[in-house]
Amino acid sequence: MSEFSTGETDFLLDGRPVRLLSGALHYFRVHEAHWGHRLAMLRAMGLNCVETYVPWNLHEPRPGDFRDAEALGRFLDAAQEAGLWAIVRPGPYICAEWENGGLPHWLRGRARTSDEVYLGQVERWFRRLLPQVVERQVDRGGPVLMVQVENEYGSYGSDTGYLRRLAELLRAVGVTVPLFTSDGPEDHMLTGGSLPGVLATVNFGSDARAAFETLRRYRPDGPLMCMEFWCGWFDHWGGEHVVRDAGDAAAALREILECGASVNLYMAHGGTNFAGWSGANRGGGALHDGPLEPDVTSYDYDAPIDEYGRPTEKFRRFREVLAEYGPVAELPPAPPVLGQPDEVLLSGWAALSAVLDARGGAPVEGPVPPGFEELDVDRGLVRYEVDVPGPRQPYPLIARGLRDLAVVYVDGERAGVLTEDDGQLDKPVAGPARVELWVESLGRVNYGPRSGEAKGITGGLLHERQFLHGVRATGLRLDALDSVAGLAFGEVPGDGSPGLYRGVLSVRGAGDAVLELPGWTRGFVWVNGFDLGRYWSVGPQRSLYVPGPVLREGGNDVWVLELEEAPADGPVLRLRAPDPILLDPRPTS
Ligand code: GLA
Repeated sequence: MSEFSTGETDFLLDGRPVRLLSGALHYFRVHEAHWGHRLAMLRAMGLNCVETYVPWNLHEPRPGDFRDAEALGRFLDAAQEAGLWAIVRPGPYICAEWENGGLPHWLRGRARTSDEVYLGQVERWFRRLLPQVVERQVDRGGPVLMVQVENEYGSYGSDTGYLRRLAELLRAVGVTVPLFTSDGPEDHMLTGGSLPGVLATVNFGSDARAAFETLRRYRPDGPLMCMEFWCGWFDHWGGEHVVRDAGDAAAALREILECGASVNLYMAHGGTNFAGWSGANRGGGALHDGPLEPDVTSYDYDAPIDEYGRPTEKFRRFREVLAEYGPVAELPPAPPVLGQPDEVLLSGWAALSAVLDARGGAPVEGPVPPGFEELDVDRGLVRYEVDVPGPRQPYPLIARGLRDLAVVYVDGERAGVLTEDDGQLDKPVAGPARVELWVESLGRVNYGPRSGEAKGITGGLLHERQFLHGVRATGLRLDALDSVAGLAFGEVPGDGSPGLYRGVLSVRGAGDAVLELPGWTRGFVWVNGFDLGRYWSVGPQRSLYVPGPVLREGGNDVWVLELEEAPADGPVLRLRAPDPILLDPRPTS
C-alpha cells in the first residue's frame, strides 16, 4: 500500500517525488487476450503507467442493462500484473473518437450540465462502475493513482457546478486518490474546465513550454502533467491518412520531460473501433458545426505501438527518450500471426429486407419519421417506408436533416444514395410510388456543440414542398447480427446486390491477420460472431484488423453486411498475415 499525492512541484509516492511516464491504451479497443502483450509493450517503451477511459455507452446499452462493467477491473489487474500504475478517466463524457463521446444514446436531461435528470443517470452508472476502481486504488494496494473528472470540459461548457457535483460524486463513492481535470492550454478552457482544489493538467501535441506557462498562470504550483500528448492523430472516412513524423514527436516528448513534467502519450497504442463504435466529428473550424467527419475503424493513431501491436519507428525514438528517465523492459514475445493466407468466395446470401424482418425491431408508424433513438438503435440502420400519393406528376423527393446516409429504392428499384449535403434524389418521383430509404448511422458526434445529435431523417420527408406522412420505420441494431443462427441464406444473386453474405474461411495457424475486401463498398464484417467493424471503399482505411484470438484452426464462419454494392464478379474475402516487423527496436545509443 502506498500513498500518492500532489506536492508543490511533483507527484509524491510515499513522500518521494515520482514522474509519471504514462501511455493511453483503451481496454475496449484491444481484444482482451492481447491486453497482457500490449501492457508489456508499454513497459518495453519505458512507461511506468497506463491510462484508460471508460465508455459508458458500451457498458450500459439500455438503461439499467449493464454489460461487462467488470472489464475495467480486469484490465486494472492486468496493468498491475504488468508492473504499471494506472490512471482512470471514467467520463461520463470521454470524447475519444468514440460513438457519442461515450454517452448512451438513451440519455435524458441535458448532458454535460448540472441538470438533475442527467446527473441522476450518471450517479447510477458511477455507483455501478466505480467500486472496482475504488478497491484498486494505490492506497489499498492497487495500481490506480488518479481519477479524472469529466474530459476537457472547458472545450465544451462553463457549468462549474456540474464539475463540482461530479467531483463530489467521485468522493462519495469512495475515490480517495487525487482527482484531476484535463484541458487545452487556453484561458477559457482552463477556467471553464478546472476546479479549485483539483489538479489541473493540459493536453497538447507540441510547444510544451508555452502550454505549461499558460497552466502556471492559473496554477502557480502543483505537479505539471500533459495528460494527452498527441503523438499521432486519427483518420476519418474520405480523408487523408494522418501521420506524424517520429523524430518530431520524439522531440516534443523530450521537451515535455525537460520541463520536469509528467506525460501521458495519447495514444501509446490506439487499437481498433470494433463493432461500429467509432464516433464522428463535425468539421468547419473552431465551431465544429460543419460537415460530418465519421471516424474510421482503425484507431491506429500513428501511435508508437501500431494497431497490430507492433513497435514502430516512433516506438524506437520514444524508447530512446524515455530510457533517460527510467527503466525500459525487454520487448515481450509478439503474438502469433496467421500461418497461411486464405481466400473465400462467399456463397450464402440473404436480402436486407429478409434480414430486417428476422432481426429488426418492432416497426413504428407515425406522421413523421422517428429517429434512431426512438427506435433504440445505437449503431445500425433504419428502413423508412413511405407512400407517395398519386396519381401525380414527378416531383423532387427530399430527406430533410438526413443523418447520415440513405440508400433509396422507388418501387423496389435502386434510385440513388442521399447524404446530409445532398438529400434530394437525382430523378423526380411520380405518384403513386412506394419509397424505401435505408438510413445508416456513421457514428454519433463525439466532440463539440453538436455532440449527441439525433440520427435518422430528422427534418421530415418532402415531395416537392409537401411533407409526406405515414412513415413506417424499422430499426436494425448492429449487434442483432452478432449471431446469424436461424437466418435463412440462399444463393448469391451475382449482381452486386446489398445483403448479408456468408461463407467459411479456413485457417491454418490461427494468429493476427489482415482482412482484405476487394471490390466491396460499405458495411460490416463478422468473424465467428466478432464484429471487426466498418469497411468503406472511400478509404483511407483499406483493410480490417483480425485479432488472432477470434480465429480458430479449421473453418471460421464469416459474414458481411454489405449496404451498398457487393463485388458483382464474385464476393471474395482475403485473409493474410500482417507484414513482419521491419524494425530493430533496440535503442540505438
Ligand atoms: C481530445 C480528447 C480525446 C481525443 C483527442 C483527439 O484531447 O480529450 O478524447 O478525442 O482530443 O484524439
